[in-house]
Amino acid sequence: MSDLTAKILGRIRDVPDYPSPGIVFKDITPLLGDHVTFAAVVDALADELDVDTVVGIEARGFILAAPVAYQAGAGFVPVRKKGKLPAAVLEESYDLEYGSAVIEVHRDAFAPGERVLIVDDVLATGGTARAAVDLVGRAGAEVVAVSVLMELGFLKGRDRLTGVDVRSLVVV
Ligand code: PRP
Repeated sequence: MSDLTAKILGRIRDVPDYPSPGIVFKDITPLLGDHVTFAAVVDALADELDVDTVVGIEARGFILAAPVAYQAGAGFVPVRKKGKLPAAVLEESYDLEYGSAVIEVHRDAFAPGERVLIVDDVLATGGTARAAVDLVGRAGAEVVAVSVLMELGFLKGRDRLTGVDVRSLVVV
């Protein structure tokens, strides 16, 4: 196990029965509060990728994606939950355990063919990342990679992202 992997795993807190009974929530706030590990995570997520823009997925994805954009010398584009963006949007719906959700991006967020890195904190079922990849593609940009801090391997979210370069700093 690398030093960074150990640091990350040591700073993610399991919170049982949140947000509902039987769910173990992966709380990244201890990691964010440790400036050395936070900085190392941002550097690792930005690692060796040549991109024009970094997309962050609301809400926890924003916390990581904005500093990754700064580090990569790239712009930042927010993908937000429905109804939050002020100008004309494209939207994409995806399934949740119960029901569905919608994410949106501004129609004019990308120049044609722009190279994009999508950043989020967690890859779980992969529904959110799949929808974000499709949204960015429909908006005319090219998804170079999806980078996440943590992948919940047992949920096999990666299987929904065939053909996409999916990078995770830790798999739990
Ligand atoms: C969480 C997480 C990812 C998504 C992963 O976000 O931040 O975006 O779920 O799950 P999936 O792979 O099963 O789609 P959430 O929708 O809880 O929003 P939040 O960041 O606003 O809490």
